[in-house]
Formats: sequence, structure tokens, C-alpha cells
Amino acid sequence: MLKNPSAKYQRFDPVSLPNRRWPSQTLSQAPIWCSVDLRDGNQALAVPMNVSQKLDMFDALVKCGFKEIEVGFPSASNTEFSFNRRLIEEKRIPDDVTIQCLVQAREDLIEKTVESLMGAKKVVIHMYNSTSPAQRKYVFGKSKEEIIQVAVKGAQMIKDRLHRLTETGTQVTLQYSPESFSATEVEFAKEISEAVMDVWQPTPQHKMILNLPDTVEVCMPNVYADQIEWICTNIKNRDSLIVSLHTHNDRGTGTAATELGLLAGADRVEGTLFGNGERTGNLDIVQVAMNLYMHGIDPKLDFSDMNGLIQMYERTTGMTVAPRHPYSGELVFTAFSGSHQDAIKKGLAGYEEHRTIWDVPYLTIDPNDIGREYREVIRVNSQSGKGGVAYLLESEFGIELPKDMQREFGPIANDIVDKLGREVSGAELKGMFWKEYIQRETPYALHHFHADGVDGLFTCRCSLLVNGKEKGVTGGGNGPIAAFVHALVNDGGAPAFEVANFREQSLSSGTEASALAFIQIKTGSGRLVWGAGEDTNIELASIKAVLSAVNRAS
Ligand code: KIV
Ligand code: ZN
Repeated sequence: MLKNPSAKYQRFDPVSLPNRRWPSQTLSQAPIWCSVDLRDGNQALAVPMNVSQKLDMFDALVKCGFKEIEVGFPSASNTEFSFNRRLIEEKRIPDDVTIQCLVQAREDLIEKTVESLMGAKKVVIHMYNSTSPAQRKYVFGKSKEEIIQVAVKGAQMIKDRLHRLTETGTQVTLQYSPESFSATEVEFAKEISEAVMDVWQPTPQHKMILNLPDTVEVCMPNVYADQIEWICTNIKNRDSLIVSLHTHNDRGTGTAATELGLLAGADRVEGTLFGNGERTGNLDIVQVAMNLYMHGIDPKLDFSDMNGLIQMYERTTGMTVAPRHPYSGELVFTAFSGSHQDAIKKGLAGYEEHRTIWDVPYLTIDPNDIGREYREVIRVNSQSGKGGVAYLLESEFGIELPKDMQREFGPIANDIVDKLGREVSGAELKGMFWKEYIQRETPYALHHFHADGVDGLFTCRCSLLVNGKEKGVTGGGNGPIAAFVHALVNDGGAPAFEVANFREQSLSSGTEASALAFIQIKTGSGRLVWGAGEDTNIELASIKAVLSAVNRAS
């Protein structure tokens, strides 16, 4: 990289808009959405979609609620042309959905586009030509006037052919894009757009769409917003226009540019699912829609089955959704850090109680709303705290560790996970718990246990394996556990201890029901140590828990 980038790159000159109004606006409703997945998104694929993949995606877009869908560039290839014909002839377009087609300002291409649309109910014909200084100079070698002539001639060619569609009952809306708008002088963008308007003669009753593309994102989103507000304020007959945004993401701010563009007065947004598109992609419509949703605004798009949508997207485009992609990524409702996990766990519990406004820390929306599950929220790696460990054991296996025991087991599990150096599954955590507590059988293991009680006094007779050798022990107390503790210390040679805490729970997995007991002992030196036992018999589970604690303390 250059030490002095200004020797090669220059600052982008902002628009002069001293009385800009957009910073004090707020968004209160969804814009008109137009999916350009099947055109702009498709153009950016190494292997473009075939007709059946396009049909698959079209159906999914309709299911999400898109009412305007740019279905392709029918003059560009047979696939694109036949796709339009299949949609129309097989009556696959719902009555409330408008299909849109892109075309350059060239007669043969316009002719083919009109042909591809015959018989459709509602269509948008979208004509574009590029207007920025670099495009004028390098690509077309044309003056401003000549570039305006290209647009005007194209607009006229479309107008001349409109009757063929309208006479057969097709409702047509016209759309013009001064491509590379954000890199074009606003005055020239206005001039060329007005020249197209002069041909198409839009009215407030029959508006045309003026699409203002951020074809290559060249400036900060506030500058794009200024450009949009400038056009909305200065263009003639604003009330005869639907002002549309079409951002790409070269500087990583396509979403911000769109949102600020809406504040600046735009009515419509073009974009793709998950931001597929040339280079760094088109605007991700899911993001803008979900950003509205998280502010309580109905986005008029439904992403309840986000996983299904991602599968469709990956199947049809061959692209993937990055794990941290906002809203849709696999990891976006996952917390690895212990403090986050703890806060989420508490927040979810609180939300379950009041179920009104969503205010769970670290989660901008309820994952459930887009078909994700709470269970995905917490995973465990070396950064996780006791909260995450306990959550996973409880949510996946129903094991409810006493709070104090969570404090003991959390660091043990973290140590192991740290050594493994990777994320662990719930099953692996359970394995760690079993190894640490349930499978602790030295020095003491239970061979046989029997207890009888008369008038609240219990006697136990049991046989233990002490360091592998069988030993019979007896003892008495005011309950089976107390009698066993007595037998263990008096006859079994265990160091003195007392039971400090006891909890039991039932555990059912499949058809087998078993019990888990958790016992905390206090050793002669005052150390507190937990143990756990599992058995189909609750009494035996607690006796095993005593032995687990004694074994862990020794
Ligand atoms: O990015 C762009 O400018 C386009 C136009 C054709 C609208 O895709
Ligand atoms: Zn584009």
C-alpha cells in the first residue's frame, strides 16, 4: 500500500446541501421492496441459475412477500427469455406480483424484452444507461449531451412499443436508472432523468420509477443520502415519481446507505437476499427489513423460515451465508462468552415471565421469530462461564445442577475445553460431568446397599469395594443417608465429613426413567465438595452421590 494514498486516490466531493432534512427523519413504514436476485444477483454468479433454479427462487421470493421481482434480462440469453415465458405461460405469477425486466437503451434488446413480457398481468420495464464521468469518458467516449440522447432514444423506443403490451391487458410501469448515479454529478443525473421523464410523461396517477443506483459504493452513506435528498428536492414533478434506491456494498455500508436514503425521501428499495451481487454484493434486503422489524415496524416481508430460505439460496445460487451475517448467519444468536451467556439466560427467563417487549440482552430479536431456536443461543468453548455449561446440560439433557455446583463444575469443564482448544457439544459436556462426578469409584465403590428404618431410626448394611477390596460396613442414623455416612466413616475408614447440601431430580431419557442426586459434603478441614450419583432407585442415587463426593474429596 502507498505511504501517501492521496497520490493515487482522491476524496469524494460531497453534494452541497446545507439545509439537509434527512438527519432528523425517522423510518416508520416499510418501503416498496423489489428483489433483484434473479437479475443482478444472478449476473454475479460464476454459474448463473438455470430455469428450474430461477423458478425455485421465484417461488421462494413470492412466499416471502415480494410484490416486485426483477426476473431477469430477457434480451441477454435464451435462459432469461424462456424463464419469462415459463412464468407467464404457466401462470406462475400471482396477480398481486409485478415482474420487472432490465434492458439497455437499444432497439433490438427492447424489442426482445417486450416480446418476452407478452401476456403478463403487471410488468416494469427497466431501462438504464451509465452516466458517471468515468463511464462517459472511458466506456462510451460520449459527451453529456450524447449520453442524454442514448437515454432519450431508448425511452422513446420503449414508449413506441408499449401499446403492444397495454392493448393485450398488461399494466406497464416504466423505470429508468442513471446507472452509476452516486458517482455522477447530481445536476447531470437530474438533467438526464428529466429528459427521460419528458418522453415518458409520468403523472401522479401513473408514476414512473426513478432508480438511483449506488452502482459502485464510492462515498459514505450520508453523502448518498444527500444525493437522494438533493434529487428529491430539485427534480421536477417529484409527485409523478417513485424514487428507488439500489445500493451495492463496496465500502461495506450498503445497508446504511439504503436506510439513510430512505430517510432522505426514497420510496422503494432494490436488493437481494443475503446481499448476493456483483463484487461485494447488492444490498441485503433481509437486513433492512429485519432492522425495521426490530424497531417494531412491519417490514411487509416474512422471514419466519430463515433456515428454509438459506437452504433455497444455497441450492439455487451455490453461494453461502457467512456465519456472522446479520440476522441470517448461523452464529448470530450464539454467545460464546460466559458473561453474555449468563445475561442471555437471565434475559430469556425474564422475557418468558412478562412476554411483552423484547429486551433480552445481546439478542436484538427473538430468534424464534425467524424460525431459530433458543437452544442454538448458547454453546460452550473456553470463553464460556458456568452459565453456558449449566444451560447446555439443562436444555439438552434436563440436568439441573444446583447453583453452587455450577460454580464448582464450570471451571472444571472450562479447563478441559481450554485444553481441547475448540467448541464442545452438549453431549461432550455431559461426558465430562459423568467422568468427574458419576464415574468416581475409587477409593470407594458401592457393591450392595440395604437400609431399614424403625420409628425414624435407620440402620444400613452394605458392602463396599475399598480400593478394589470388598468390605462390609454397618451404621445407623435418622435417615438412610445419615446411616450410610455413619457406616462409611466408622467402619469404612473414610475421613469424617458431614452432608452440607442435598438435591435430587428425576431424569428421563427415552423409556428409561432414572434419578440424579447431588450431594455436597463438608470435610473435617471445612472443604466443600460436590458429588453426584445416578440410579433408577432414588435412594441408591443419593448413596452413590455421597461416595462420589467422598471420592472426589480424597
Ligand atoms: O448496480 C446498478 O447500477 C444496476 C443497474 C442496472 C440498476 O444494477
Ligand atoms: Zn446493481
